[in-house]
Amino acid sequence: MADAEYDRLFRELQNIEERYPTLRVADSPTQRIGAEPVSSLTKHRHRVPMLSLGNAFDDDELLAWETRIAKIVPEVVSGGYSLEFKIDGAAISLTYEDGVLSIATTRGNGTIGEQITPNIRTIPDVPLKLQGEEWPRSMEIRGEVYFPLSNFAALNRQRVQAGEQPFANPRNAAAGSLRQLDPSITRQRGLRFFPFHVETTEPFAARAQHEVLEVLESWGFRVAPHHHRVNSLTEAVTAIAQLEPLLPSLDFEADGVVVKVDRLDLHPELGVVGGREPRWAIARKFAPEVAVTKLHEIRVNVGRTGALNPYAVLEPVEVGGVTVSTATLHNFDLVEAKDIRIGDEVEVTRAGEVIPQVLGPVRDRRTGQERQFVTPDRCPVCGAAVEHPADEVMYYCPNVTCPGRMLEAVIHFASRGAMDIRGLGGQRVTQLRDTKLVLDVADIYELSQAQLESLEGFAIKAATQLIEAIEASKTRPLSSLLFALGIRHVGATVARLLAAKFGSMDTLMKATVEEVAATEGVGPIIADAVVHFFGEPENRGLIERLQQHGLTFTEPEGGGAKPLAGQTFVITGTLPTLSRDRAKELIEGAGGRVTSSVSKKTTAVVVGESPGSKLNRARDMGVDTIDEAGLLRRITSHA
Ligand code: IVH
Repeated sequence: MADAEYDRLFRELQNIEERYPTLRVADSPTQRIGAEPVSSLTKHRHRVPMLSLGNAFDDDELLAWETRIAKIVPEVVSGGYSLEFKIDGAAISLTYEDGVLSIATTRGNGTIGEQITPNIRTIPDVPLKLQGEEWPRSMEIRGEVYFPLSNFAALNRQRVQAGEQPFANPRNAAAGSLRQLDPSITRQRGLRFFPFHVETTEPFAARAQHEVLEVLESWGFRVAPHHHRVNSLTEAVTAIAQLEPLLPSLDFEADGVVVKVDRLDLHPELGVVGGREPRWAIARKFAPEVAVTKLHEIRVNVGRTGALNPYAVLEPVEVGGVTVSTATLHNFDLVEAKDIRIGDEVEVTRAGEVIPQVLGPVRDRRTGQERQFVTPDRCPVCGAAVEHPADEVMYYCPNVTCPGRMLEAVIHFASRGAMDIRGLGGQRVTQLRDTKLVLDVADIYELSQAQLESLEGFAIKAATQLIEAIEASKTRPLSSLLFALGIRHVGATVARLLAAKFGSMDTLMKATVEEVAATEGVGPIIADAVVHFFGEPENRGLIERLQQHGLTFTEPEGGGAKPLAGQTFVITGTLPTLSRDRAKELIEGAGGRVTSSVSKKTTAVVVGESPGSKLNRARDMGVDTIDEAGLLRRITSHA
């Protein structure tokens, strides 16, 4: 359903409910946002206590756990284990009566929590009404609400701007957002939910924990990725070692893996330790990879879009087996929000990030000699006045001819996904800049064979090859060129969407913000950046020169390449930005096919929100599953 259609029907429903309040049902979509702020949260006594978990900090402790529980119930050793990420969020319990969400509560002290039903209703992952019919009439579903990492920095920036304390971590952000008195604030936060446990006295279709997860999916929940079943604890140890490196790719924080006795019939026999921790599960914690070291200096690097990236020069320190001497500080607002000072002892981590990052200062270790860092108002490379767009965290050098930007811009322009000019990598570009032969991307097309041959390290053959590669790049389609230009927020996917919609550079350059924003998958922020880019006289001049050199300014039908030729896709659930029809169009445009049922011939199942049974079938058959972003990557990767 298109957004506009959804909005129209939603309003119609609101009107009906206003006129006939008795028709308003608990699982109405209007109830996701409708409730009035409550003055204080109502206490709720859990029917069954919400337990916590014992920890194992290394493999030996994990093995000791199995030895302990095997003394009570020997069958555990052969019954297998279910492995799931331990999500670092806020524990909640959802009561469903006859398949309809009735009460949602926080964990509280495990015995008494707080009712947060209106807030939980704003989370789209939580079904207001369960799918299917085979659910217990009365049950509690327990799981974790988390704050997506992709939104965390933006939330803290907003808070700092509003004069509020930033959240220390995503877990606090999740817990804080849940306890809002006004559900519309919770809704804006974009919380997500993963269930992992069903508490009921009625029988239901799961005999093992790994089946509980499948059943939850069939009811319309989305369970945390990468869960799996192993036959023995030895297998669990191997699997956990493979799960830990996945952390950087996840949009949630996980601080370990929960190992659960798979057979549910053994759980009651194993019982609970000290009324607090079930014996049938244990959290194998990951070692936090954090080190403390001195921050000597804060330097600023200028990226190809002009973004100014502050980074810390550190006293070298080992973090997770790697020596780290620089680490990103992400952006100036964060430096200020976390009050990171030059000379501070800082915490540095690599967990969750490939690039090391500074977490924050160790305030106790301050000597008074530390100096505050001042956000520059001039570009450190060219001296242009810095720009700070209203709703962005980043600060930018607006000068397209800034030498700091230029180097990165040319390297990006020539790179594989962009204009694909082989032989024009970082070293060559630096050499061409230092000899003043290339000062912007259009200069690439003014290079001559003779000029190249005169350069150090350029054999005749290398020069010929580079000239040929430059010539060949002129036939790259508009989508590649748009991506290559390095327009802020325009990645390969957006470039392809824009090229497909507008067809030619001329049409796109004349488009208004509204027209650009009307492109599926392109929001107002991107549209603004695109129109702003083409509005700059320097950029218009650059594009004119590229046109004179004969670059392709149009997009061939279907985007030229057919990267999905011979591939078959099945779509299940609601995709975050694309409508079904649009996804189908894009797949077919790239030479692929869309079918309605999963078979061995299916290349991949594209999984959206609230996926149906097709997802289970894909898993059973071992067919690849990808999300919308994955699909778009496949479509654009060879464009
Ligand atoms: S099972 C009765 N599985 O960790 C259920 N807990 O330290 C016992 N948690 O409060 C917990 N991810 O909210 C389980 N995959 C997972 C989990 C998980 C996060 C939380 C849970 C609990 C806390 C215990």
